[in-house]
Amino acid sequence: MKLAITGKGGVGKTTISSTLARYYADQGKTVFAVDADPDANLSVAIGMEMEEALEFTPIAEMKDLVIERTGAKPGTIGGFFKLNPRVDDLPETLAREVNGVKVMVMGGIDHGGTGCVCPESALVRTMMRHLVVDRDDVVIMDMEAGIEHLARSTAEGMDALVIVVEPGMRSVQTAKTISRLAKDIGVERLFIVVNKVRDEEEAKRIEAAVPGIPVLGYVSESAATREADLSGQSAYDKDPQLVEKVSELAKRLEQLLNTE
Ligand SMILES: Nc1ncnc2c1ncn2[C@@H]1O[C@H](COP(=O)(O)OP(=O)(O)OP(=O)(O)O)[C@@H](O)[C@H]1O
Ligand SMILES: [Mg+2]
Repeated sequence: MKLAITGKGGVGKTTISSTLARYYADQGKTVFAVDADPDANLSVAIGMEMEEALEFTPIAEMKDLVIERTGAKPGTIGGFFKLNPRVDDLPETLAREVNGVKVMVMGGIDHGGTGCVCPESALVRTMMRHLVVDRDDVVIMDMEAGIEHLARSTAEGMDALVIVVEPGMRSVQTAKTISRLAKDIGVERLFIVVNKVRDEEEAKRIEAAVPGIPVLGYVSESAATREADLSGQSAYDKDPQLVEKVSELAKRLEQLLNTE
């Protein structure tokens, strides 16, 4: 299963990504959880201690590694470097295992929203493609709303793009924009998850606002999820209802993908 989770800021991408990653790990799968948001915080959501997360260097910022693999320093714009560096040994050496999940942090690769052609971006893109296209492990990618830095070849290898929305038209608007971008880069299967839902009526109104994008399910607004973040812990360990809901989403997704 190769999934990318996206959506407007604050809707719950990291909460849902981390819960999915831990769910698959508990099923005995090898799981890579990839933090592809420049403002990285997936590690803590999976259960890494805050102190360890602070010194967990994103790959795009590993200067020596970027030079070794691409032939150029991070931040170099233009000039010559390898667009397709060797990465197959990196998941094993760079991922840190937390609660059975192999966590990788990609780091910011976007210089002012232009989708730069620079060495660190080549390394990160190649790594994402390798994880998605060349390997059989479960991959869960926590992404910002701008998915432009997903290479087409990576997007095509994904099983699904999951767009998280919350009850509100702003996140719905973002979902529609993402859905257009996704189609442009060849993503075929898109699903909506409505998070922070208070009642059935809210859920139905959001579902009606996104015609054409199938809704995978709803996740309720939950005090236990909030409390987990307040105390810097993994919601997976604190909110059994969240775990239940997200595991239902995962099962539903598998059914839908298998019956195509
Ligand atoms: N179902 C929920 N019920 C209550 N609180 C939630 C729920 N889902 C997420 N939250 C809370 O909302 C906040 C934002 O969630 P999260 O960090 O997962 O969103 P995000 O989309 O990854 O945000 P960002 O865009 O900043 O990366 C967190 O404090 C989280 O605990
Ligand atoms: Mg996040």
